[in-house]
Amino acid sequence: MPIETWFPLAIYYEDLAAAPDHREDLLATVLTLEKNGAERRAYPEMAWTGDLHGVQQIHQDPRFAWVVSEVQMHTNIYLQELGIDRSQVDLYIQRGWPIVSRPGQSVGAHSHNTAHISAVYYIATPESESIDPGSLVFIDTARVNEVCPGLGSENTAIIDEDNYLNQLQVSYPPAEGRLMLFPAMQRHEVTTNETEELRVSLSFDIVITAAAGAPAGAYEFLTPPPQQWQKF
Ligand SMILES: [Fe+2]
Repeated sequence: MPIETWFPLAIYYEDLAAAPDHREDLLATVLTLEKNGAERRAYPEMAWTGDLHGVQQIHQDPRFAWVVSEVQMHTNIYLQELGIDRSQVDLYIQRGWPIVSRPGQSVGAHSHNTAHISAVYYIATPESESIDPGSLVFIDTARVNEVCPGLGSENTAIIDEDNYLNQLQVSYPPAEGRLMLFPAMQRHEVTTNETEELRVSLSFDIVITAAAGAPAGAYEFLTPPPQQWQKF
């Protein structure tokens, strides 16, 4: 009695070989940006995120050039694996920001609604293997196998066996030097850093548009290149 599964969520990651060469500089830069950023807006249990504190354009900052080039290269591979003809689309990094998660801090569930692909890079992560250093959790919002909507709710005790057919989330502990790519619409959160160490990462949002050229913008499902827009 086979049960087959379909429609996989594609999460990409690569452990970057040159990561140790850049760790100290990147870490120092992020901590300086945090120190000099806008007055803290988040509540104490929420990690410091650059986008809320005036630090959301690190993709334009030469101190992050190495990570940006890796994001670009691996996004190309990711899109190729997803079967996308790269020659027909242009890619833009729309936003880039650091995250500093101190002991006891987390990031609540969200999705990156203005982008298409999101990237995260782990500059420095706690060493503990037994204590959660703050894991990236992807949340299944489609719930395709929840045959009776709400049946998987934490308020019921109706699902009595957790298995891969009713799995509603997947958790990735951070790994120093790892770059991850995922669909920006995929809802996710970062669990509490239960260690006594810093957890420092970078996030990037990437947008796909039609490639510049004659047919650019012909399709209503693909954004025309921004050069063709008219601001008013
Ligand atoms: Fe996020």
